Amino acid sequence: MSTTTKGIILAGGSGTRLYPMTAAFSKQLQPVYDKPMIYYPLSTLMMAGIRDVLIISTPYDTPTFERLLGDGSRLGISITYRIQDAPRGIAEAFLIGKDFIGNSNVCLILGDNLFYGKLDFLRTALDGTDGATVFGYRVTDPERYGVVELAPDGSILSIEEKPEHPKSSLAIPGLYVYTPDVCTIAAELTPGKRGELEITDVHAEYWKQNRLRVIEMGRGIAWLDTGTPESLIEAGTFIHAIEKRQGLKIGCLEEVALNRGFITPEEFRATVEALPRSEYRRYCEQLL
Ligand code: DAU
Repeated sequence: MSTTTKGIILAGGSGTRLYPMTAAFSKQLQPVYDKPMIYYPLSTLMMAGIRDVLIISTPYDTPTFERLLGDGSRLGISITYRIQDAPRGIAEAFLIGKDFIGNSNVCLILGDNLFYGKLDFLRTALDGTDGATVFGYRVTDPERYGVVELAPDGSILSIEEKPEHPKSSLAIPGLYVYTPDVCTIAAELTPGKRGELEITDVHAEYWKQNRLRVIEMGRGIAWLDTGTPESLIEAGTFIHAIEKRQGLKIGCLEEVALNRGFITPEEFRATVEALPRSEYRRYCEQLL
């Protein structure tokens, strides 16, 4: 597994679909059952072994993310922050994050994308990326997403952003892995129909260069949407149901840091002792 791959969480945007919840603070800070939404994508990166993370958000929300997560040292990782001053598109992350990415491969996750299940598909992607890797996930409403069409031999036939008439039911979730030259590719993009630098155009360029790989996420993975009030509460209900059944938390950053060996049991203890008395802290304490 690659430990040199860096991670970017894109957590800006206008969040208008969740208004008025997003009038005071951003979507990725909203609770999904018992944690702020961003805990889930951050834990996904950490579980994949990524320890160097850049969070990009709005001028207004970035200080709140900093207050929430700090510099990551208590989790044995590094978290830095950059501002996107207007939502000019997902691909702008590679312009804002150019210095951070440097010569490393980079895994981008959208701050509102939640994954639950065995992350082997992501580890495979991190292992062998010499271009871009995106994932395919079967959904009933592909028109809401980036959509990829595959031939029976797995080769790519088309890739489109929110097509009116999708050619397949394989949506592309907001989790991607790239080589460092993604920054050069992003720098040459022009805004698409929505007036944004489209992530699908980045993938189309990799595809043109014959460097785009698609890995299908199996049905054992849950990819949860949080884009509307209804899907947000459904995601919360899903997390609640699994946590209640297993007595294990999903997306507990301290637990992931301990299990991945990012912090020692002693450091874990110190981190947990600094947490306010809460159900979350009690959960962490019983892990010791
Ligand atoms: O969720 C997966 C989908 O995400 C992909 O299938 C699509 O290909 C991709 O374009 C994207 O579609 P959305 O319509 O969901 O993108 P949206 O504009 O809602 O942005 C996704 C997240 O990224 C959102 O939480 C806000 C954040 N964002 C978005 C833009 C455009 C930013 O932080 N900055 C931005 O400039």
